[in-house]
Parts: sequence; C-alpha cells; structure tokens
Amino acid sequence: MAEKLFVTTALPYANGPFHIGHIMEYIQADIWVRFQRMQGNQVHFVGADDAHGAPIMLKAEAEKISPQELVARIASGRPKYLQGFHISFDHWHSTDSPENVALSQDIYRRLKAAGLIYSKPVEQFYDPVKRMFLADRYIKGECPNCHSKDQYGDACEVCSTVYAPTDLIEPYSVLTGAKPVLKTSDHLFFRLSDPKCVDFLNGWTTTPGRLQPQVANKAREWLSGPGENPGDQALGDWDISRDAPYFGIPIPDAPGKYFYVWLDAPIGYLASLQSYFASGKARANGEPRSFEEFLAAPDTRQVHFIGKDIIYFHTLFWPAMLKFAGPPYKVPDNVYVHGFITVSGEKMSKSRGTGISPLRYLDIGMNPEWLRYYIAAKLNANVEDLDFNPDDFIARVNSDLVGKYVNIASRAANFITRHFDGALAYAGDIDALRRQAGELAQQVRESYATREFGRAMREIMAYADRINQEFDARQPWVLAKDPARRAELQDICSRTLYGFKLLSVLLAPVLPDVAAHVARELFGLDRPFRWSDAGEPPQRVNPYQHLMTRVDPKQLDALFDADSPVGGKPAAAKDAAAAAATISIDEFKRLDLRVARIVAAEQVTGADKLLKLTLDLGTETRTVFAGIKSAYDPATLTGRLTVMVANLAPRKMKFGVSEGMVLAASNESGGPYLLSPDSGAAPGMRVS
Ligand code: 2FM
Ligand code: ZN
Repeated sequence: MAEKLFVTTALPYANGPFHIGHIMEYIQADIWVRFQRMQGNQVHFVGADDAHGAPIMLKAEAEKISPQELVARIASGRPKYLQGFHISFDHWHSTDSPENVALSQDIYRRLKAAGLIYSKPVEQFYDPVKRMFLADRYIKGECPNCHSKDQYGDACEVCSTVYAPTDLIEPYSVLTGAKPVLKTSDHLFFRLSDPKCVDFLNGWTTTPGRLQPQVANKAREWLSGPGENPGDQALGDWDISRDAPYFGIPIPDAPGKYFYVWLDAPIGYLASLQSYFASGKARANGEPRSFEEFLAAPDTRQVHFIGKDIIYFHTLFWPAMLKFAGPPYKVPDNVYVHGFITVSGEKMSKSRGTGISPLRYLDIGMNPEWLRYYIAAKLNANVEDLDFNPDDFIARVNSDLVGKYVNIASRAANFITRHFDGALAYAGDIDALRRQAGELAQQVRESYATREFGRAMREIMAYADRINQEFDARQPWVLAKDPARRAELQDICSRTLYGFKLLSVLLAPVLPDVAAHVARELFGLDRPFRWSDAGEPPQRVNPYQHLMTRVDPKQLDALFDADSPVGGKPAAAKDAAAAAATISIDEFKRLDLRVARIVAAEQVTGADKLLKLTLDLGTETRTVFAGIKSAYDPATLTGRLTVMVANLAPRKMKFGVSEGMVLAASNESGGPYLLSPDSGAAPGMRVS
C-alpha cells in the first residue's frame, strides 16, 4: 500500500539568504522525499519562510522598508537556491499569510478552550526610547561574575556564566543605548506543565520508531524535571505572547499582543500545506481529499526534518499544541534531527554561515549533484555533525562518481554503439543477474528508508567496483579484436550496462539530474526512473553522451576565496544595501581603528585581487591581505599612512593569515580608494 506523506524542513527566518546549513537540510530531506516518490508513495513536500519576530521587524526598520517588503525580497531569492540544488518542494509559502493567521488563531482558541492558556504578569526590561520590551539579546552590560563589558542579557561569552538580564551591571539597550527600565505587562502562557501535557508527551516521545534514540533521550531529560545539575529546570510553561511593537499575528481578544514567533512558526507547516491544497497542486499530485481530511487521516504520515538546535520546540511544544487543539490537527509522526555542518572542522556562525556560500557554489559553476552526493555519502541517521572537507570532497566526487560510476557507462556503451548498433544481448541466464540486482535494491532501499544515506552510497559504490572489475577481467578490448568472440563482447557490455542502469536507479534520489538524463538519453525511457526499473535489464542503449565532469581543485579555491569576483560582482556588494542598520555608540566603540604606515606592499602569487601589506602600528607590525590590487601599484603604497581595523579577528586565507583590514571606499562606479589621515597623524593613533 502506498504511503501518504506530508514532509517539511525547518522554516528559515526570512531575514537573510540561505546558508550551507539550510542547503544541507534540504538536500537530506529531498533525497528521502525523492526516494519515497520513486517507491510510488504519495509525497507532499512543503516549505515556507519564517517571517515573524523582532529581528525581522528591526532589520526592516533599519532598511526603512516594511517587514512585508523585507520578507518578500528574501522570498524572491529562494527559487535560485532551491532550483539550483534540485530541491523538489511541492510548495513554498510564508508564515506571514492569511492561512497562518487563521490556523494560529484557531489553534490558540482551542488550547484556551482546553484550559491550557493563562495570563500572568511578567516584569521585563523595557527600552524607554524605543518604547519596546527588550528580548535578552537586545540587552547588554557588564557581567556580574567576571566583570567583562558588553555581555548579552542571558549569558557571558567570556566566563560562560548564565544569568538574568536584570543581573547585568549597568545594562543598556543594544537598540538605542538607553538604560532599560523594568516594566510589567501581562503575558499569555501555554500550560505545558499540566499533567495531561506531561503524560501525553511522555507517551509521544517514547513511541518506538518516532524519534532517534538520542533525541528521545534529550526529550526525556527535559520531561523528567530537575536533574542534578544547577540550572536544570522542570518542564516550564511557555510564554507565547509578545507586546507591541512586534511583527507577528495578533492574539484574539488581547489587544496589543502578538503570538511569539515560535508559536506561529511550526503552524506555518500547516499553512503551507493548506495553501498548497488550495492551489490545486495536491489534487494534481494524486490527493483528492480536502486539506482538513488529508491532515486528519490516520494514514497520513507527518514528518519534520530539523536541526539539533530546535529539538525542544519540535518535540515538546509542537506535538502538545497539535494534540490539545484536537482534530483535524494531528500530532507529528516523526521528527528527524540532523547535526550541524562544519567546514574543515570549524563551527559555523548562525548569522554568517560557514564560509561556503551556496550561491557562490552555483555561480562559479560547481555541479549541485557533487554536493548532493558528498552530503549523502557523509550522512547517517544519527544526530552527528557533518564536516565538509575540500580534499575529501574532491576525492569522493572524482573517484566515486566519475571514476566508478560514470566511466562504466562510457566504456561499455561505446563498444555496443560501435559493434552492435545499440542492441544489447545477454548470453545465457540472466536470472542470477536479476536476483543480484533485486537483493542490492532491497538493501539500498532499507538504507534510504532509514536515512542511512552514507551506507546506501557505500553499498552502491561497492557494486560499482564489482561491475568495473568484471568488465576489466573479461577484457572487452581484446574481445573486440576477435570476430569469433562477438557474443562474449556483447554479453559483458550488456551486463555492465544493466549494472549501470541499476546504479542509476539507486542513485536517482541523490543525482536526479544525471539519472533523468540516463533514463531518457541513454535508455530511451519517456519518464524518469522508478525503483522497479532496477529489475529490468535494458535491451538497447543509445550512444553515450557526456554525463559529469571531474571536480577541478581550482574550483574549491574559488569557492573559498571570497575576494575573487563572481561574474564581476564581489559577493559583499550584494549585501551593501543591507549594511546600513543603526548601531549604538558603544557598538562603534568596539572597533579599534588605528593609523598605520604601509611599510611594505607586495604582489601575491596566484591572487587576482589581493596585495600583501605590512603595516606598522607604532608598537607592532601586522600582515594584511587587501583586495586593492586592481587600483594600486604596490610600489606607490610603501611609506604612506592609512587607517586599519586593528581588532578584527585574524582570518586564515589561502595565501596566509590576514591580521586586520585597511579601510577603502568604493561603489559600482569606482574604487577602491584607500583612506589616509591628515598630516600630523602617526602610526598607532586611535581613530574615533
Ligand atoms: O531556527 C530557525 O531558523 C527557525 N526559523 C525554525 C523554525 S522551524 C518551524 F517551526 F517553523
Ligand atoms: Zn563573565
């Protein structure tokens, strides 16, 4: 019986473009979804932008546009990435939509009717200038423990002490610099501590097969109340309201109050599904029922792919909300959690990503299926981080995909085209071959179904090795010279091409483009592969056409060298418009700007844009790589004064470590122009 699946990925905040972490999650979910579709299951795969919350409101304000305009701009950039990496969402929507307003308000009313909502006064810091309550990340001050300045309201980044914003010494608002005042307001709470919620969650989180063991353990820790460690807390009620000004969904019967973004965000999964049903696409995809009927149906399997940082929301709040809202809402069947992506072992920053820009990857012409394969090869069903390592990437793509998989096709197909005009023929019994294929397909199916993609890739590549070995062992190039051995030649090439077809079917969830090409061009099918094609030995093959090139290590250099231009436009220029947000004087003071003398300027071998500068700061010298080669002859720079950022974290570049940055002006029509101080300034002087 075909399954009916409703599959989502975490909804990305609509305040910036996708980073590689998003793309990894989408690739993981997309491989699973494509695998399910190939099995003949009905899949409805939807996403949306997570549009609400204070950061988006403030960012729009800083850009002097409405939050809706900001969200629309970000949304308009999504298709390029999704199409670029072959992510096959059936629908993409937004949490700032009429569907989400109606669903969120409906769920809230039902929870209230179930006695799970109450109101309680909350005392919180308030910015009297901005007239706004301040979330912890908008408050800074001196750490009460180690007395480091400029620490956030929830924890000290220097000594790691966790505290309340009210514990900060000399707190200030990050938004205006004003001293925040304490102010009380009524907040609405979801009574998660209610015994009926706790009972339900104890059952839901421990249902076999629902969650990965690691995730279920985490949920159990949260559910089992205070542990031995200080800071452990019993399951608390959840503050679901925020006061105006806020970009969110108004709470019915509570003027001036909005749902906290994390309440309406997961409801956005349903809003997207509803909008998809309304568009007629669900019907076209084989689902005749209404949105409500589909959602409530006991055989609809609801699956969420998420990252490990948002487990709490998806395994406690979200199922409890759905459960106690009642039908047609239904609790999720599975929440599948992945780890983070690191690059050469380095952690990613949530705001800046990893240093691999997915857009740059596409812009410099790297093949999206290389990345899909690499990610598949490194993923398993556990919550483990995945490391992107450039050398490993090159090795796996070139040796597995090109060396083992693609090459088989060209070698065997060329003999068949040349000597047999495309006709395949198998000598003797091919049942054994079929049986082998069936067994492998079954093994790989099991691996895909359980998200053991790395294992699936190993199984597939082991088979590719075997086909290559058999092909080589029978020496078709020798057979081709002997007219008496034509049948043997045809047999080994036919078997090899059957093997190649099988591999293509099994790799299709990961390499949808190549597989579609193989199905259509090489084997003349008028549709993409289905899983059952694995059992069908091909009878004809068309002349081989190029399928995939090898990775050139230079492409990885270009991927990481953010200073070399893409299509003439530096990556940074795209963000220039967004860079003009207001900062406080304290934020400005964190910049250590110094007068510096350029004591040496040199060309850098192999760099298109960079010059290597040695800068004298009075008390020390620094090496800085500056992207000013297009505008300056190094000889003219020696001896002159300029301004540098002296407290920029050192950055490892391809050519060495850059220990700061020199300041230069530019726009589309010119530059860069280096800054110089007036005469009298000396190296080391602070610029303020
Ligand atoms: O952490 C995040 O990026 C959130 N925008 C994820 C939301 S997932 C779902 F709840 F919408
Ligand atoms: Zn501290």
